[in-house]
Amino acid sequence: MGKQSKRPVLGAASMACLLIAVSLYIGLLVFLSWRIQIANQRGNNDSTEEDEVTEERDALKDLLRRLVSGEERNQLEVGEFTCHFDLHTEMCLSAKPVRISNGGLTVHVPSNGSQFEHSVRPYARRDDEHMMKPVTRVEILHGDVANLPPCNFRHSIPAVIFSTAVTGNVFHEFSEIIIPLFLTCRHLRSQLKFVTTDRNASWIQKYSGILNRLSDYEALNLDDGSVHCFPGAVVGLRYHDNLALNTSDVPAGYSMREFRQFLRESYDVKIKNVREIEKLQKPILILISRNHTRKFLNEDAVVELAQELGFQVVRAGTDAMSNLELSAKMLSSCSVLAGVHGAGLTNEIFLPDGAVVFQVVPLGTDWASTNYYQIPATAMDLQHLEYKIEPKESSLSEVYGLDDPVIVDPASVSAKGGYPAVRAVYFDGQNVKINLNRFKDTLQEAMRLVRHSMT
Ligand SMILES: *[C@@H]1O[C@H](CO)[C@@H](O)[C@H](O)[C@H]1NC(C)=O
Ligand SMILES: *[C@@H]1O[C@H](CO)[C@@H](O)[C@H](O)[C@H]1NC(C)=O
Ligand SMILES: *[C@@H]1O[C@H](CO)[C@@H](O)[C@H](O)[C@H]1NC(C)=O
Ligand SMILES: *[C@@H]1O[C@H](CO)[C@@H](O)[C@H](O)[C@H]1NC(C)=O
Ligand SMILES: *[C@@H]1O[C@H](CO)[C@@H](O)[C@H](O)[C@H]1NC(C)=O
Repeated sequence: MGKQSKRPVLGAASMACLLIAVSLYIGLLVFLSWRIQIANQRGNNDSTEEDEVTEERDALKDLLRRLVSGEERNQLEVGEFTCHFDLHTEMCLSAKPVRISNGGLTVHVPSNGSQFEHSVRPYARRDDEHMMKPVTRVEILHGDVANLPPCNFRHSIPAVIFSTAVTGNVFHEFSEIIIPLFLTCRHLRSQLKFVTTDRNASWIQKYSGILNRLSDYEALNLDDGSVHCFPGAVVGLRYHDNLALNTSDVPAGYSMREFRQFLRESYDVKIKNVREIEKLQKPILILISRNHTRKFLNEDAVVELAQELGFQVVRAGTDAMSNLELSAKMLSSCSVLAGVHGAGLTNEIFLPDGAVVFQVVPLGTDWASTNYYQIPATAMDLQHLEYKIEPKESSLSEVYGLDDPVIVDPASVSAKGGYPAVRAVYFDGQNVKINLNRFKDTLQEAMRLVRHSMT
């Protein structure tokens, strides 16, 4: 009886809950429409910048805080602005509304009265003065924005400013722009607008498949002198290492695996692993055919040898990566990427897991071969084979003779003339004539690795 008499009481309780839920829901709707009204008013009125709804600012701060750590993160929390400078990169973050003018080269940040200035070169090669030369500085001015020209355009999502001054070499394009863009922007879930400085329209076109996946909007061109207002901004990009992402470095959680998956999604590539490649045909070896320096002097013989050993050989010029969508699709069905050390090996990022990178290492290029392609290949779940040429296989042996320090002691060239000398002699002045007998062993090893990982 006692239990039964409680039923109506329970019913009343659930009715009360329902009523509370309904009124909360209506409350939420009213709140949302009020927010939308505020947003609309803001959209039409230039002088209400200070009325920024605090929650939106906090949400933006939460997104930007992932890009810094320690004291810099504190500064962002407290002052809504911080900068990060390390060996390779420079970057400033504003969770305060900014005005961007002067073709993206001036960023105005409102401040409490104190006037100060930062200057950022938004390209991730800070340690290389030579490469940084064409990168124009972005000036960040803190002070009263009351006297500035009004916004011509008002955006509701943050800006990310980067330079496209250093372009034309696909290794540097990926290592210093594309991967840093991924590191800096991925967690913003496409809710950002790119502002490019030192604008190169054909570069933007070339990488549109990637840029369009990182942002839902076209990259802005401010060269017409217009003034754009954003709720916040990132000037410059985060960088980890040569063609690398480090899960434990800021922003934590991204490795080469996530980046490669992102590339496959960007170009709609289906094959992830060499196991998924059609097995009826011979394994495809793609040979990077360089045209000017570090070229194979007996390339036809190399191709024939690879064919004899059972590969289907495809030659790719150094311009192979000018259409990234085609490259991505093509390379996903290749088992081996072979070539003399050089930017063409950047194509490795599109190989399926388990594929083989076969790097021919000319004299004096050991460090670059290891750091630019071998270490990254391993982080990409690829296998790496190195064919280090012997002095006789280098065109330099004919120029200098086999006993010259240039041949026997490349370190001495570096000690005497620094990188410019190394570049001129070993990178720009050397070709290779492959010893086919020796080369055959490494090619057979490549075939063995491919057979093993395809089954
Ligand atoms: C903007 O809002 C202010 C009040 O906050 C008002 O005085 C001003 O006229 C408005 N300007 C425009 C262009 O609507
Ligand atoms: C003004 O802002 C600067 C930088 O954010 C800060 O260092 C300073 O303490 C602030 N001054 C006042 C009076 O709040
Ligand atoms: C623009 O970018 C493209 C693609 O990377 C490059 O080939 C070209 O040399 C660049 N143009 C200039 C003027 O830097
Ligand atoms: C990755 O980043 C962490 C934290 O900055 C650093 O300690 C570690 O050495 C880095 N790993 C590599 C392989 O660079
Ligand atoms: C390489 O150079 C030759 C002539 O020197 C030219 O015909 C060919 O188109 C070039 N190939 C590439 C991929 O640049």
